[in-house]
Amino acid sequence: MKIAIMGAMVEEITPLLQRFGTYETREFANNKFYTLKYKNLDVVVAYSKIGKVNAALTASILINKFGAQKLLFSGVAGAVSDELHIGELIAASGLVQHDLDITAFGHPHGFVPEGKVLIKSDERLLSIAKDTANSLGLSLKEGVIATGDQFICEASKKEWIKKTFDASAIEMEGAGVAFVCDALGVPFFILRAISDAADAKAGFDFDEFLQSSSKISADFIISMLERLERS
Ligand code: ADE
Repeated sequence: MKIAIMGAMVEEITPLLQRFGTYETREFANNKFYTLKYKNLDVVVAYSKIGKVNAALTASILINKFGAQKLLFSGVAGAVSDELHIGELIAASGLVQHDLDITAFGHPHGFVPEGKVLIKSDERLLSIAKDTANSLGLSLKEGVIATGDQFICEASKKEWIKKTFDASAIEMEGAGVAFVCDALGVPFFILRAISDAADAKAGFDFDEFLQSSSKISADFIISMLERLERS
């Protein structure tokens, strides 16, 4: 089975590549793709660069050029729910685009004609993640992740996203990946470890916790691979 593991920033995939140790590097579309064998799985790793457009491009390439049959995303997010703290893990039950707005035409936030507001994650991958968390004695929260091309560091904006989409966390790529995987029929799983609380000190916290939270997320994804390999 061919599994893609994607991050947005180099810091998000570095702990994965360090754990895997050996890999080959291929360049395509101004990006690098790292291919390797992990047990009986063929794995391709890449970081997209920040934002929904970059994320959608990389997800498409991972699927259409590298033949990924499942896509796992590993990275960091800002907490929207008060129950999520720095370093804690959240798996997306589904994803929305909080900055997609044609409400001027009577549509709800996050919706364009022929689309849907919420793109749901693959149930089987979510269940593998829950089993992984249980077996490791780790807490894994599940909730809606809201994506937009904005770094959120303002209480009023954060509250609006929380209220409008019933979101638990925010980041800048997940819904782009979800959109591509959903359209192409590829099961996906988006995991994030919290780096900040999307508040006035989010910029500072993000810089402080990017590396440590990226590692927490990456370690969990590698534990999930053990189960995927057996399934
Ligand atoms: N990723 C991590 N923290 C974030 C935030 N506060 N806003 C958007 N994306 C993020």
